[in-house]
Amino acid sequence: MPKGYDFISDSPPMYRQSRHTTFEHDSHTALAKLHTFTVDDLPPHKWRNHMYEFEAWLQAEMLKPNAQVSTDLTQFSARFGGILRDWWISLGEYIQALFIQIPDFNQALYLLYDEFCRLPHLYEDQFRYHRQTTIGRKFFVGGNWKCNGTNEEVKKIVNVLNEGQVPSQDVVEVAISPPFVFLPVVKDLLRPDFHVAAQNCWVKKGGAFTGEVSAEMLLNLGIPWVILGHSERRLILNESNELVGDKVKYALSQGLKVIACVGETLEQREAGSTMDVVASQTKAIAERVSDWSNIVLAYEPVWAIGTGKVATPAQAQEVHSELRKWLHANTSPEVAATTRIIYGGSLNGANCKELAAQPDVDGFLVGGASLKPEFIDIIKSAEVKKNA
Ligand code: PGA
Repeated sequence: MPKGYDFISDSPPMYRQSRHTTFEHDSHTALAKLHTFTVDDLPPHKWRNHMYEFEAWLQAEMLKPNAQVSTDLTQFSARFGGILRDWWISLGEYIQALFIQIPDFNQALYLLYDEFCRLPHLYEDQFRYHRQTTIGRKFFVGGNWKCNGTNEEVKKIVNVLNEGQVPSQDVVEVAISPPFVFLPVVKDLLRPDFHVAAQNCWVKKGGAFTGEVSAEMLLNLGIPWVILGHSERRLILNESNELVGDKVKYALSQGLKVIACVGETLEQREAGSTMDVVASQTKAIAERVSDWSNIVLAYEPVWAIGTGKVATPAQAQEVHSELRKWLHANTSPEVAATTRIIYGGSLNGANCKELAAQPDVDGFLVGGASLKPEFIDIIKSAEVKKNA
């Protein structure tokens, strides 16, 4: 513990009460387990083992009633365990109290960070860094215009976007994805705080590939983003998981940022294989890519795309949280904690807020509604996160 800081008396008043209360209910086994982590001067690889143990303990002991919170806390503890070793016991007790008292994970996490940021300046930089990376998954909203629009319509939509009042760029990142032929005009006319994205690109360097558009061309036009693996391309144009993985790898290698789409069909969901499907789609990317910092993962259940049948917040949260667990187990805790997982499928101005409030929903990929003024309301739903 840093000198001069008392977790109980220095905590904001609203938590003092909760911490005292919870201490009385602490299970002896749990506390005994925590005490085993206060070993000083362990070599780094041992800390790693302890981190994993701590993580497992958190999951098993602390948050049994709420699976959703436990998923997030897994990433949280994995990131923080190492640098918090001096306060290991206090941390465990503190988190326990906080998360029992405040069921909303994001809210609890913000408060936890605020508290940590008040700790001696020695640790401030680490906390700021981790705060940014762990809960700094900036809300992302993509507008996928698909194969729609005329020259006149495109200008009208861009006008609406340009006039829309939306949260600032540090709250939400927006990317508009018109068909290839309109990319230059949209890029020229669109407000500078919105990015432009292509809807696809070729799997390797351009050349004799009739009808294709290469990543190099997009970069040449100053287009920073590309959507890859959309279900309409997977299903109608037979793009395999492997092809999509190769495309993601090549686009990233050229410096593009990628919105990579995954999602199950209705038959797959009804057969109970949703997670297998999205995991193998994600695996084909993970096998080819190690740096995920320029990937946004879009979960778009095929049965929800263009059908008016939006996933319920619980359905979306469940898959997003499972995907994050998958990333945690198969890439790294950092990738799991920082990769934005956005939802797509029949999203509109009316249903976006409830979905945005889900802890693992980091934004949206919007089809039909991105052609309408309500797209502005969808962008505004980022505020839900900010105020969480
Ligand atoms: P939708 O499409 O919003 O029209 O359902 C979403 C998408 O395909 O990205």
